[in-house]
Parts: sequence; C-alpha cells; structure tokens
Amino acid sequence: ALVTGATQGIGRAIALALAEAGANVWINHLNQAEAATALVARIVASGGQARAVQADVGSPAQVADMFGWVLAEGELDILVNNAGITRDRLFAKLDVAQWDAVIATNLSSLFNMCKQVSNKMASRGWGRIINISSVNGVKGQAGQTNYSAAKAGVIGFTKALAAELAAKGVTVNAIAPGYVATKMVMAIKPEILQSIIDTVPMKRLAKPEEIGGACAYLASDLAAFMTGATMNINGG
Ligand code: CAA
Repeated sequence: ALVTGATQGIGRAIALALAEAGANVWINHLNQAEAATALVARIVASGGQARAVQADVGSPAQVADMFGWVLAEGELDILVNNAGITRDRLFAKLDVAQWDAVIATNLSSLFNMCKQVSNKMASRGWGRIINISSVNGVKGQAGQTNYSAAKAGVIGFTKALAAELAAKGVTVNAIAPGYVATKMVMAIKPEILQSIIDTVPMKRLAKPEEIGGACAYLASDLAAFMTGATMNINGG
C-alpha cells in the first residue's frame, strides 16, 4: 500500500490501520522525513513493514520518480490519495496562487498518482484506490472555494475512474470525512471551530482512527462489491 501525506492526521491513522491489517506500507511525505521515519519505526516495532518515500504529489515529475523507487521494490495493490492542504480565504480575497496550490495538491495529485498504477492494477486484476474527499466537497464551505472545488472534484474523479475499472477487479472509492481532530482543523480560529462543532449532530470532531478504520475496510476483500462510492463519515 502507499498512503500520501501519511506522517500526520488522517494519513497517519490510515497507514497504521493498513499496517495493522497486514499491508506493507509506503509512507509518502512532502518534507517531514523525521516524522516519516518515526512512523516507519512504530509500524516495524509492532511487527509490520513500512518504508518512507518523499514526493510532492502535486508534481508529476516527483510522483514519477517516487514510483520508480516504489515499483522497483514490488507491485502496489492499494493506493490511498490522502495528501491535502488548505489555503482558506473568502473568494473576494483569494489569489490565483492559493487556488492553484490547492487544486494541484488536492486534485491534480489524483491524476499524477493514479496514472502510475491504475493500468498495472487492472492488468493484474486486483487493486484498491481510495481517495480522501471532505464534507466540504459535498456541502461547500465559505472561505474554501478552492478546497471545496478540489474535494468535489475528488468525488467526480472517483466515480468516473471506478466506472472504467469496475470490470477489472479494481475498486475506486472516496471517503468524505467531516471535521477531524488534526493539525489542519485545529488551525481554525477557536470561535469559528466551536461554531462548526455546534452544527455537527454528534457535537464533536472525528478521531483520525475513525477514518483509518473505514479505509482499511475499503482496502479489504469484504469491500469488493463497493466501487464509485463515497463514504460520508461526519458525525451525522
Ligand atoms: N458564511 C458566510 N460568510 C462568512 C462566513 C460563513 N461561514 N464566515 C465568515 N463570513 C464573512 C463574515 O460575515 C465577514 O463578512 P463582512 O466582511 O461582510 O462582515 C467576512 O466573511 C469576513 O469574515 P472574517 O473577518 O472572519 O474573515 P477572515 O478573513 O478573518 O476569515 C475565513 C475568513 C478564513 C474563511 C474564516 O472565516 C475561516 O477560517 N472559516 C472556516 C473555514 C473552514 O471551515 N475551513 C476548514 C478547514 S479544515 C478542513 O478543510 C478539513 C476538512 O476537510 C473539513
């Protein structure tokens, strides 16, 4: 398995859940070599197998280089496109760099990553592609035209690729988490975050493990009949 943006938050929980389920996991990171090494050590210490690999998922060239390393070590069965960033700003003030950065990392990354493995998975007749969307890609969020557009794009991409690969043993699904207790969410101003939590029926943030577990399910044989779907995990 390969998990992008795997050193913290949701990606880290997904990497741990997949390792627990028996996958050998590649921990992709942008520039957190130390955190990646620590996560690899934790997985290895509990009897699993993991390696770290650096690449900016928004860069086609860096992604191609990364797969040069990864595929030299063996086939990839499970791809989790998790890496994501925010550049929150009201649309009136949003600049093109903030638009482009979010589209590149959160959406074009799916093109870059899937290009490298989808044909290979299809020719082997088995594969799992899991894309992390967001509740804000489903409902839209003020201050996030860039992020909401990218995360809605993730769902469209998922459905279209799922249709293309359905007969080939490769499933493609999305998870749309609500607000999860991660660094990204904790960076929201406390009063704004509280007003968001007040709108969640369960009145709390998700734990990263609550997303990791769903991802392990989607990667398993039990989820073989599920494709093109979006799992909404958002406390109601
Ligand atoms: N809906 C409509 N208008 C809003 C609004 C909202 N939710 N929030 C703010 N505004 C309006 C305000 O009313 C104000 O309008 P006026 O100027 O006409 O009075 C204007 O926006 C400016 O408000 P602020 O002073 O708060 O502006 P700011 O520039 O300091 O902050 C913001 C704007 C950055 C978008 C801030 O409101 C914010 O951080 N909002 C939260 C965005 C959010 O939920 N991000 C999620 C990050 S986590 C994540 O993305 C993970 C995931 O998948 C869930």
